Amino acid sequence: MLKTHTCGELRASDAGKSVTLSGWVNRRRDHGGLIFLDLRDRFGITQITVSDDPDLNLPDVTNPSSNGTNGSSTLEVASQIRSEFVVQVSGAVQKRPPGFENPELETGEVEVIASDLEILSEALTPPFVISGSQGDEVDEAVRLKYRYLDLRRPKLARNLRLRHEIVRFIRNFFYDRDFLEVETPILLKSTPEGARDFVVPSRMNPGRFYALPQSPQQMKQLLMIAGVERYFQIARCFRDEDLRADRQPEFTQLDLEMSFVEAADVMALNEEMLISLSAEVSDKPIQQVPFPVLTYDQAMAKYGIDRPDIRFGLELFEVTDFVRNSGFGVFKNAAAAGGIIKGIRYPQGASLSRKDIDGLIEYVKPYGAKGLAWIGITGEADANGNYPAESLRSPITKFLSEEEIAAIVAGAAADQGDLILLVADEPGVTNPALANLRLEIGARANLIDPNLLAFCWVVDFPLLEYDSQEDRWSAIHHPFTSARDEDWSILEQRPADVKAKAYDVVLNGWEIGGGSIRIHRSEQQMRMFQRLGLSESEVDEQFGHMLEAFQYGAPPHGGIAMGIERVVALFADAQSIREVMAFPKTSTGADLLLEAPSPVEDDQLAELHIAVREQEADPQ
Ligand code: AMO
Ligand code: AMP
Repeated sequence: MLKTHTCGELRASDAGKSVTLSGWVNRRRDHGGLIFLDLRDRFGITQITVSDDPDLNLPDVTNPSSNGTNGSSTLEVASQIRSEFVVQVSGAVQKRPPGFENPELETGEVEVIASDLEILSEALTPPFVISGSQGDEVDEAVRLKYRYLDLRRPKLARNLRLRHEIVRFIRNFFYDRDFLEVETPILLKSTPEGARDFVVPSRMNPGRFYALPQSPQQMKQLLMIAGVERYFQIARCFRDEDLRADRQPEFTQLDLEMSFVEAADVMALNEEMLISLSAEVSDKPIQQVPFPVLTYDQAMAKYGIDRPDIRFGLELFEVTDFVRNSGFGVFKNAAAAGGIIKGIRYPQGASLSRKDIDGLIEYVKPYGAKGLAWIGITGEADANGNYPAESLRSPITKFLSEEEIAAIVAGAAADQGDLILLVADEPGVTNPALANLRLEIGARANLIDPNLLAFCWVVDFPLLEYDSQEDRWSAIHHPFTSARDEDWSILEQRPADVKAKAYDVVLNGWEIGGGSIRIHRSEQQMRMFQRLGLSESEVDEQFGHMLEAFQYGAPPHGGIAMGIERVVALFADAQSIREVMAFPKTSTGADLLLEAPSPVEDDQLAELHIAVREQEADPQ
């Protein structure tokens, strides 16, 4: 071993020991005849003191053969050392003189007096500072190109460690509960999870392709038919979709499946896991245990989104029925077109400047909202509890009746000083615009407690959604999710009303996991495929194996998958899942370190029976 101890290990009680440490030079401080090196490895930092002053060396432990590297003195060697050089140092542990201790370092009570110092590897000046807490402001492209240096930074090193702890905890949790860990193939056939597949050509089968799994969904269901009963896997998934802060083309799921269970069983077990995981890796309290359960309809009504951040209130309210005949054309027309009018209260927002309010309007525009109707309550209510015109500040109240204003104020539960903001549009615009406005107001009004873990379940999702572009119904979760028992009878006639036996788990406004009870009878699965508009031959070609398997005794089963990166990012307080992945890709799917994706040789393409078409001219 090139080290006897780690750089995080030595304490005052080790004083007098002769040790060898190896690591990176975090920092070098040169005081003429005295050089300090902060030596760093994964475990910590230890101060190395290099001096020509013989008094600094403890005579009884000085290595007699020591005369530095290549005959140079340790001081000469140390003077050549720069940040990030890899060095090996031997010497004596000494308690630091009183007053020179560093309470910020775990090893801060001691230093190692170098008697032997060797440069194992030199280093170029890194493109960004590695020591300390700096680095986040560095251009991410540079950090990704030099990811191996980025990962040396304490913050990312900590995230890697946390991810390891979380995955280890999850594994142990499920091992202890009789789950079998089974690996499933990466070279697979298309598994529909709503994204595009990455495909891999097959040299031995010209013109044929594997698809990388978007999830191991079908394999885990087949494992239930195989009798595994309790399966889990830390599974790599691949989805060719547009990337965001919480999405990567390649990511990892905790994937699990259980036989002979109902939704409540899967939810209870995973809730238990998340509660004990939180206790293990976080100091933050969980807002509510057992986790609150919202139906999809409740979540959409109150928060405008199916992954609500319930760390704070500010629930949305709807006034469509009160204003559908309003003199305010924006409301009337939206309602007549089948839209909804919903709003949110901005606590103490009545005094916001016109500029601030315009800022809020700009904020909702990217979500498709054409504007924000607003009413500020600047004055007092009258004896009946109504706000007279002089108590209101608003560009729209002149178009509204007293009753309409009263209904809006009551819906918002607004008081003097509050600002009411309303959006009138189709639900697909109103809800996301207000859901995001709610988060913005929550942040501006400082209502979001960063030290809280607010888990909740969202259940009773619709099974299907209408895809107007393709003019057909598609599965919201995936086509293997079962309808509620009572809804099978309306699958064909009223597809929009069918609810799924599906559940999502949400933490602080992030969807961290989702799952469902599956269809386990082939005739029901066939009905589902038909409902999705698949022809018999398409079903046969894509899913014949599932239908066939269901005919050999399929147990009732269900499961869930959680996004490991999202879970880790939330516990690490990271803004993006890239911060908790060793080698993430950019938003265009590029690996900047390896420069992938990259062209391949013509020979290789020929072998794969593939010809690449000339790139079409860039439309820009
Ligand atoms: P779903 O598609 O909801 O379900 O995925 C489950 C969880 O995986 C995470 N996730 C992602 N994380 C990072 N980047 C992505 N591109 C990405 N896509 C999804 C999310 C999500 O909640 N087979 C079903 C599960 C089941 O039914 O058991 C599935 O994959 O945290
Ligand atoms: P306009 O009639 O376009 O001048 O808009 C009058 C007020 O209604 C302005 O404050 C707009 O921001 C607001 N507004 C416009 N469209 C909508 C909408 N779809 N929902 C809510 N408010 C809107």
